[in-house]
Amino acid sequence: MAGSVVVVALIGIMVVLLPISCAAARAPAPSTYTDDEYHACTQRAATLCGPSAFTFYLHNTVYNPAVDNKDYFKSVYGLSPNVTWPNPYSFGTTSTFEDPITEGPANTSQQIGVAQGLWQLDSKVGYTLFHIFTANITEGDYKGTISILGQIREADPVRYLTVVGGTGHILGARGLASNRLVTIDHAAPATWILSFDLDLYY
Ligand SMILES: *[C@@H]1O[C@H](CO)[C@@H](O)[C@H](O)[C@H]1NC(C)=O
Ligand SMILES: *[C@@H]1O[C@H](CO)[C@@H](O)[C@H](O)[C@H]1NC(C)=O
Ligand SMILES: *[C@@H]1O[C@H](CO)[C@@H](O)[C@H](O)[C@H]1NC(C)=O
Repeated sequence: MAGSVVVVALIGIMVVLLPISCAAARAPAPSTYTDDEYHACTQRAATLCGPSAFTFYLHNTVYNPAVDNKDYFKSVYGLSPNVTWPNPYSFGTTSTFEDPITEGPANTSQQIGVAQGLWQLDSKVGYTLFHIFTANITEGDYKGTISILGQIREADPVRYLTVVGGTGHILGARGLASNRLVTIDHAAPATWILSFDLDLYY
């Protein structure tokens, strides 16, 4: 009986103290991040990193009823938010996409897979697209799926998303997906190419 009281008391002390010691150990967040800080995987744990030079490209063409491009679209918008006040950054708009993935930036480049997922405009102060998608890589050295999520803030030249998992050759991969806009053509139906540079570790 006395033993279990001691155990309960010890657990109680740990519950109180653990969060404090974890909080004390946590480094303060830097106010701004450099590319090197985002690429800490390759610097701190090179032996743990996977194919750090792995880059792929997503090719998107929006469906636009005005040009009725139903034969060659890659993404569709969902319902727009039903609001009457100004909504300059289309807060709440979603888009679902199924984009070819190529190994190079040209739209004639070899297709190595497909990216399927969605994004949602989730900021009222700028164009920021929360992305969540799976890249299914079916050609090349690394076959399998890569699950990616994170924010693409349009104003940023490089956007840092996380790789939260993988299957196949990259089973269990985690890491960094650095995104850039390669080209965009605003003319209807609107077409763009995005690059993703992956730093993976297993
Ligand atoms: C949009 O909002 C208006 C005003 O609240 C409402 O009358 C209308 O039914 C809504 N439309 C849809 C599609 O929900
Ligand atoms: C590549 O882009 C050009 C110019 O937008 C377009 O005419 C062509 O159809 C595209 N090719 C492919 C394979 O998507
Ligand atoms: C990836 O694509 C291949 C070829 O189309 C398909 O057989 C496989 O089921 C796909 N995997 C996923 C998770 O979509």
